[in-house]
Amino acid sequence: MCGIVGYAGPRRVIPVVLEGLKRLEYRGYDSAGVVYLQDGKLIKYRCQGKLSNLEAIIDEAIMAPSHIGLGHTRWATHGAPTTENAHPHSDCTGDLVVVHNGIIENYHSLREELRAKGHRFTSETDTEVLAHLIEENLDGDLVAAIRKTLDLVEGSYAIGVLWAGMPDTLVAARNQSPLVLGIDENGQGSFMASDIPALLPFTKQVIFLEDREFALLTAGDCSVYSLLSGEKIEKKVTTIEWNAAMAEKAGFKHFMLKEIFEQPQAITNTISGRINPESGEVDIPEIGITDEDVRYIERIFLVACGTSWHAALVAKYWIEKYAGIPVEVDIASEFRYRRLIVNDRVLTVSISQSGETADTLAGIRLAKKLGSKVVTICNVVGSTMTREAHGTVYTHAGPEIGVASTKAFTAQLAALFLFTLFLGQRKGVISPEKSRELGQALIGIAEVIKEKLPVIQTQIQQLIESFYSCRDFLFIGRGLNFPIALEGALKLKEISYIHAEGYAAGELKHGPIALIDKEMPILALVPQDAVYQKVISNVEEIKARQGRLILIGTEGDQHLKTITDDIIYLPAVHEDMNPILYTIPAQLLAYAIATRRGCDVDQPRNLAKCVTVE
Ligand code: M6R
Repeated sequence: MCGIVGYAGPRRVIPVVLEGLKRLEYRGYDSAGVVYLQDGKLIKYRCQGKLSNLEAIIDEAIMAPSHIGLGHTRWATHGAPTTENAHPHSDCTGDLVVVHNGIIENYHSLREELRAKGHRFTSETDTEVLAHLIEENLDGDLVAAIRKTLDLVEGSYAIGVLWAGMPDTLVAARNQSPLVLGIDENGQGSFMASDIPALLPFTKQVIFLEDREFALLTAGDCSVYSLLSGEKIEKKVTTIEWNAAMAEKAGFKHFMLKEIFEQPQAITNTISGRINPESGEVDIPEIGITDEDVRYIERIFLVACGTSWHAALVAKYWIEKYAGIPVEVDIASEFRYRRLIVNDRVLTVSISQSGETADTLAGIRLAKKLGSKVVTICNVVGSTMTREAHGTVYTHAGPEIGVASTKAFTAQLAALFLFTLFLGQRKGVISPEKSRELGQALIGIAEVIKEKLPVIQTQIQQLIESFYSCRDFLFIGRGLNFPIALEGALKLKEISYIHAEGYAAGELKHGPIALIDKEMPILALVPQDAVYQKVISNVEEIKARQGRLILIGTEGDQHLKTITDDIIYLPAVHEDMNPILYTIPAQLLAYAIATRRGCDVDQPRNLAKCVTVE
């Protein structure tokens, strides 16, 4: 998604803005631009493609003695990813610029009205309408013009505005699109950004802007106001625990690989302090629901998108099995547009790495309106979902930069297993013995992964030579591992562009088996669990049709060798931990194939890290 960075302060602005934009590259973008104010004039550079293209054209401007400016990386929604459509966008005079994330839904009618009044447009974007509408409403008072403009627009926005007529001040405003402000308490200025990593090289003191708020940023001040009333709002300053080094590659070739290897730590950080290692008793103080709430719940909705949705699918098995509460799992973009039977006896749980995914956010807002309690399982401290939910279970995975989610997923699984234990224990339906057994299984899984990771990586590397050039790939799993088949397929298609599908193994014969021939690779997850024999039967059906099988199964399972030579063996762990463990080879397979094909794994084409538009 688009990225915004703005700065006002004593440093030279362009290096600050570029550094911030680089930290947002992981969000995905296809063009970029910057603007700064010098000698009363706004100087703007924009280009198609990567930030390196922008740096090449900025050249001397990098050292421009300007101390206020904005930058933007654009992920195209309205209009192709061209230089003309790149932000910042100017008004007719060129004295006012706007950068924008989100979508202005009524831009078409606004543009026609503005055209009729003589405004000339130079791009196909919805954003340019904002610049012209502010110009139209501007009568010496920029804040009044922006408030009037934002009152007229429908849709979502996080914006940064700079006007030559108010040369010391940046204006920031948001509605349904994230924007965070940074304050450097050492007098090094004020910042705005669409995501925390952009601020980490400069400050850890942040203020989260809420919907319908705006801020005035100068070198020495950062004040927030209501867009509706214009009144000043006292905001809490939050200190971010992440540091800039956590968002760097630390010697790994890609963020994705680094994040795969960070999983044992991410899991440990997510569960530590929340589970008693002896008894397995779980305590999550910030969860926002009482024991009474747990007993009152009749049903749970798990709402998420993409990889987070796969985590929800695994959690359904766990919660129903151990807490005895019926669970419905919904893709957020579907959830928000169907007739929901939700009331105060329903608990809605959103699962999101970013806490900003537009559909998931809309889903929890809707559920809340219908009377449901809302808990969010989220990785980003202070994100919109954590502020809007009644309670939060943070996944302490640290910043995830790779567009393909890895450590956030396994940390979500760990958090969801904790959540399952919490529900079962508070309802009194898990015996102390079971609590101990499950708690210890969860605590032990990080160590198993840590030990096996390098081994699996080597085995995968050897295996992919005969698979990396294939056109299609199937993944199958059953029970708890069916969602991992979906996740494996998603990882592969996201970063290698190979067409891949995940299926419930038992469903294969109802259609997809028609795809099997001697060209088709099929990765089957076959741990020795309750459905092992069933999956083996499905695998035999594939073998009979000459499919090219890769099996991921339990160490010591000799039977697998009678089926194929391409086997990754994993240690036997508690059956409920298999989804966490079996995710690792699926991620490494996708990574190895994508790098072998020369793909940009950290920033795959067309994808954005955080989808803040519908
Ligand atoms: O930040 P979220 O967890 O809400 O994001 C949800 C999806 O957009 C995300 O998981 C996406 O599918 C990733 N690209 C998966 O690797």
